[in-house]
Amino acid sequence: MMLKLLALLLQLAVIHSAITRSINEASRSNVIIMHVNNLEWSDLGIHHNKRENENLTPNIDRLAYGGIILNHFYANGGIKSLNSGCYQRSSYGNPNLMRTYFERNGYHVNSLSIKNYTNSEDFIRNIMTAISHDNQLFYISIDFGSLNNDMKLPVIDKVVGKIVEKTHNERVLDNTIIIFLSLPNADDDTIDNDPDSSSPIESHYRRTAFIYSHSLLLPQRVSNQLIHISDILPTLVNATDLKWRTRDRIYIDGINQWTALNKNIDARYSIFGDNFYIENNWKLSYGTSKNILYNSLDNKGLELSESDNYDFKNYMKFVNNADINSYLDELTEDKVFLMRNRAKVHCNLNDIDTSSFAINIKCSRATPCLFDLQSDPCELDDKHEHEFDARRTRMRTVFEDYLENGLTDDEVHHGAHDEHSMTIDPILTPSGGFSAFLTLMITLFVFIFMLIFVACIKERCNSRRSVYVDKSKKIIYKDESDATVSNGVSTISAQIEKQQTRL
Ligand SMILES: *[C@@H]1O[C@H](CO)[C@@H](O)[C@H](O)[C@H]1NC(C)=O
Ligand SMILES: *[C@@H]1O[C@H](CO)[C@@H](O)[C@H](O)[C@H]1NC(C)=O
Repeated sequence: MMLKLLALLLQLAVIHSAITRSINEASRSNVIIMHVNNLEWSDLGIHHNKRENENLTPNIDRLAYGGIILNHFYANGGIKSLNSGCYQRSSYGNPNLMRTYFERNGYHVNSLSIKNYTNSEDFIRNIMTAISHDNQLFYISIDFGSLNNDMKLPVIDKVVGKIVEKTHNERVLDNTIIIFLSLPNADDDTIDNDPDSSSPIESHYRRTAFIYSHSLLLPQRVSNQLIHISDILPTLVNATDLKWRTRDRIYIDGINQWTALNKNIDARYSIFGDNFYIENNWKLSYGTSKNILYNSLDNKGLELSESDNYDFKNYMKFVNNADINSYLDELTEDKVFLMRNRAKVHCNLNDIDTSSFAINIKCSRATPCLFDLQSDPCELDDKHEHEFDARRTRMRTVFEDYLENGLTDDEVHHGAHDEHSMTIDPILTPSGGFSAFLTLMITLFVFIFMLIFVACIKERCNSRRSVYVDKSKKIIYKDESDATVSNGVSTISAQIEKQQTRL
C-alpha cells in the first residue's frame, strides 16, 4: 500500500518537474551583446542623418528595424557600466556581475574581442563556435573594438549578418536576445584625456543602440525612453528570469527596462554622468573638467534638411536585400520610413533664436549650462534666462550631492538605485498565470518530498545527501555553500513602481 502510494506520488513529482521545466525553457534566452567603440550617431542608416553613410550597413539596419531602436540610450560609463550595472562613480560596481550572473545559471559565457586576434577570420570563427553550443544556453559579448582602428563598418556589418545567420541555422534565433551598442572610447574614463573626445555633448554619450528579440511584445519601433547602459544587466535579468545565485547583496544603479520596453512606458527619469545630469529632458552640463570651450562640433552636420531629398526607394531596396532579411519578420516600407524619421535627431535650427546662438558655449563647474533636450537635442541653446534659473539651481544641488556622496539608499533620484536581495529558493519559480497552480504543485511537491524522506528513512535508504536538478539540468548536491540564492527582480520592480507613483 505504502509503495503504491509512493509510486503515484513519484509520478506526480515527475509531471510537476516536466511542467516546470517547459515553462522555464520557454522564457530561457541566449544573449548576444555586440559593441563598437566610437561609432558615431550618423554612421548607421537608421538615424537618417547623413546621406553618405546610408548604404553601408544593410544587416545592422535591418536587424535594428526588426527590434526596438533605443533612441535615448546613454552609454557614459561604457563597458564597465554594462558589466556592473552601475554608474562609473558608484562604489558598488562589480565589473564581473554580468558574467557571474550568467555563469552561475549554467550559461556558456564567452567574451570575444577583436583586440585579442591578429586577423578577423579567427575572430569570426570563434564567434561562430560560441554560438553553436548544442543545447547549452550561451551569453556572448562581442567587442568589435574601435571603428576603423580595429574593424571597418562594412566588415562589422557582414559579421553581424553572419551572427544572425548562424543563430538562425542553429535554430536559436527565436530565443536569442541580441543587443547592439555604440560605446564611447574605451579609454575615456577621464573625460579630459583628449580634447576631441572630451565634449560632453549629446552624441558623445547618447549613442546608437538597439535590441532585437523575438519575445519583445512591441517590435519594429523606435523607443524614446531614457535608458542608461547600466540598465542592460537588470533588463536581461528580468528577461531571462533567473536568479543571482549568490549570498552577497547585489547593488546596482541600473533599472529593469524589459517591462517598460514591452509596455512602452518610462522606467527612468534621470541619468548621472561625470559632468552632466539629465532629468526629465533637461540637461545640466558642466562642460569638460578642463573648462575649455564647449564645442558643438560633434553634432555639426547632423541635420539633413528636409529639402535635401534622399533616395528612400533605393535605401529600402538595400535594406530588403540584406543577407538576413529572410530570417526576420516582414518589414513594410512605411514602417521603415516612420522609424527612420523618429530615429533622426532634429536639431530644430529654425526654432532657435539665432541672436543667442553660439558656436562655442561655455559650460563649466562654476557656470553650468542648461539645455532643453526635447527642443534642442543638439545643445545649441544654453537656457540661461531667469526663468530657468530655479531649475538649474535645483538640478545643481542634486548633482553636486551625487558627485560628493554618490547615490545613497534613501536617494530621492527617480529609480536610480536599487537594492536586491532575497533568500533561498532552490525550487524553480516561474512567473505568469500558472503561478497559483504552481504554488499548489510546489506545496504538493514538498509534501511528497517529505513523504519520500520518511519512507527513505524507513527503508534505510542510505543516500546521505538530497539531490536536485537545476535549470541547466546539472545535478546539484544541495550543500551548505549553496544555501542562499538571491533574486532581486521583484524588489526592483516594486521599487520602480513605488518611484513611479511618487512622481
Ligand atoms: C583580450 O585582451 C584583453 C586586453 O586587450 C585582455 O584583458 C583579455 O584578458 C583578453 N581576453 C582573452 C580571452 O584573451
Ligand atoms: C519583470 O519585472 C516586472 C515588473 O517590473 C515583474 O512584474 C516581473 O515579475 C519581472 N519578471 C521576471 C521574470 O522577473
